[in-house]
Amino acid sequence: EDYVPNDLETIDSNFSSGSKEMVKEAKDAFEKMAKDAKSEGYNIRAVSTYRSYEYQEKLYSNYVKADGVEKADTYSARAGSSEHQTGLAVDVDNITLSYTSFGKTKEYEWMQKNAYKYGFILRYTKEAEFITGYQEEPWHYRYVGTEISTYIQNNPMTYEEYFVRFLDK
Ligand code: DAL
Ligand code: ZN
Repeated sequence: EDYVPNDLETIDSNFSSGSKEMVKEAKDAFEKMAKDAKSEGYNIRAVSTYRSYEYQEKLYSNYVKADGVEKADTYSARAGSSEHQTGLAVDVDNITLSYTSFGKTKEYEWMQKNAYKYGFILRYTKEAEFITGYQEEPWHYRYVGTEISTYIQNNPMTYEEYFVRFLDK
């Protein structure tokens, strides 16, 4: 459970809030995406990326203290089961608004159209709450590579459904 990716690299600080790490392939794709967005007038900034097991444990237990276990489980992964521990997930904001308002921004619209071109998918949608088990998170993207992200863009489904469909064969 104490998994730590071995190729974490720090994201260019122009595209992150504080020092933020992702695995190299995801980091390179994120920087390219944020740079292209910027050149079109959109700000995509990483506010949370790789989180250690210990960090997620603290985060989750703080949420439980604040909201209780049942509520916390609808929006936070337990330690050892967060995508953030893989170094492939990134929460973003547009610099001016809190990440929790990302769904209302023009940057979100840009991501809806373009994130897949860089290998990212929106991971937790409103429609799929009953599949993912989490409330919608317009700010949380996961790097899956362009082959999978393009397939999912053209055939909307959750990553869970993608796995069920393809990895079983
Ligand atoms: N908020 C997402 C589900 C996480 O904690 O990984
Ligand atoms: Zn997240």
